[in-house]
Amino acid sequence: MTSSSSVVGVLVALLCAALEDGTALEPLIVTPPYLFGEEPPTPSALAASYGYPTEEHEVDSDGYLLTLFRIKGPAQDEGQKGKRKASTAEPPALEPFILHHGMAGNAAEWVMFGPGKSLAYALADAGFDVWLASGRGSKYGKKHVQHAADSDEFWDFSWHDQGAVDLPNIVDFVLNATNFKQTWYAGHSMGNTIMFVMNAVRPEYDSRIRHHFALAPTGFMGRVKNPSVVDFKNKLAQTVELWDSLGLTHFSSETPLLSTPRAALCAIFKDTCKQNFFFDTFGSDEKQSFEGQAEITGAYLPGDFSVRQVVHYGQIAAANESFRRFDFGTANQELYNSTTAPEYDMSRVTVPATFMYGAGDVLTVPEDVVAFSKLFRASPPALHQVPFKLFNHGDFITARDQHKYVHQPVLAHARHIREKTGFIPRGYSGSPAAEEKEMKKTKRKLQAWLNSKTAREGPNMVHEE
Ligand SMILES: *[C@@H]1O[C@H](CO)[C@@H](O)[C@H](O)[C@H]1NC(C)=O
Ligand SMILES: *[C@@H]1O[C@H](CO)[C@@H](O)[C@H](O)[C@H]1NC(C)=O
Ligand SMILES: *[C@@H]1O[C@H](CO)[C@@H](O)[C@H](O)[C@H]1NC(C)=O
Repeated sequence: MTSSSSVVGVLVALLCAALEDGTALEPLIVTPPYLFGEEPPTPSALAASYGYPTEEHEVDSDGYLLTLFRIKGPAQDEGQKGKRKASTAEPPALEPFILHHGMAGNAAEWVMFGPGKSLAYALADAGFDVWLASGRGSKYGKKHVQHAADSDEFWDFSWHDQGAVDLPNIVDFVLNATNFKQTWYAGHSMGNTIMFVMNAVRPEYDSRIRHHFALAPTGFMGRVKNPSVVDFKNKLAQTVELWDSLGLTHFSSETPLLSTPRAALCAIFKDTCKQNFFFDTFGSDEKQSFEGQAEITGAYLPGDFSVRQVVHYGQIAAANESFRRFDFGTANQELYNSTTAPEYDMSRVTVPATFMYGAGDVLTVPEDVVAFSKLFRASPPALHQVPFKLFNHGDFITARDQHKYVHQPVLAHARHIREKTGFIPRGYSGSPAAEEKEMKKTKRKLQAWLNSKTAREGPNMVHEE
């Protein structure tokens, strides 16, 4: 029984967005070069080719070996390199900035178009130590100490596991390697979902995130407009049953087309199969397309993903205004001590965040983003709708004008935060619990001080928690 199926053009919709405004454009058909067996350069090889200092690391997270691509600050021309060698002064320590891709994506998303066109370069040029994370199952997260990447055991995970286990491991690795107490973070799509999961289930990590820039923050999905996902959430039970009967544990677009499961999927996803989503997406926001966009994107994306990742999204979409753990049905009682899957509790999360979203996003639609943001009662995120009407889910990583609509706002806001809160302290201790305790003590002292000031100077000085 096969455990994979090719879905170029089917569930890839979860990464992508469809036509927003009813204008039917001719799908742009480009054959991804890797179908001919050509491997595109790794993210660090690509960045190095533009003169950026790079490194590669591997995090062992519960047996999954996840590659971290590091871009250590601005590109250096030959002259600078020489100067640096001649000088004995230590280069300044740059604050870490972790980037995490979405479902069916991979670390190359942040560098694939080159300087001026992809976010990682803008951050590195602004003086950040950029770390491109790889999710388990993604192109650069396919190794496991025990399981082969095509085994069912390997794919037995949802984004819950990535948020509860992998992201904390990645954060610890980066903080330990850089000796900073906090890191900056930006995610795309599922890269934010896993941050939200970590926020909910590993609160001791709140104090390690300086700021979370959430590009298309996928939390609530009840208002999803993408026809294939709407189809999927409406037929969730049947679909899951079908996939179970086929023994599917993951979807692969990196293997040649396997006709049987594809045909079975198309029987359900009629709307999707009528169009090829992958190519539709990158052609749909016509004003944000550019020469080479589809070819380069196609060389890296879409990647593989697990059935459970998709089904978990399907469950929260079907539930509407819900962000909850994976629903295991009859096994819930034993796992959760509850017949239903519990909601993630976002109410006490203290990580400062900016939610950036596009009006043209049919997967993570603005109304869902705004409704989801209201769960964060302790630390309400700043809301920023990209001021371009058709900006869609994929545009955060593929748009021609992402420098204007994504990079510049992120950098401007980071600068503002830094002016307000200062530099991140050095001296990573390796004990989130100890740092959390220390942070709480500081907070209590501050509260007491504020209270004493309130007593002297009258009310309205302190915001109630
Ligand atoms: C922490 O960093 C140090 C120095 O970079 C390294 O030797 C050590 O193995 C790291 N520890 C962990 C747990 O990664
Ligand atoms: C989801 O819930 C919201 C708030 O109750 C409601 O306004 C909206 O119509 C619901 N959407 C769907 C698709 O049921
Ligand atoms: C399980 O849930 C019940 C009812 O909510 C509660 O009384 C009990 O303490 C819970 N058990 C555990 C082990 O959490």
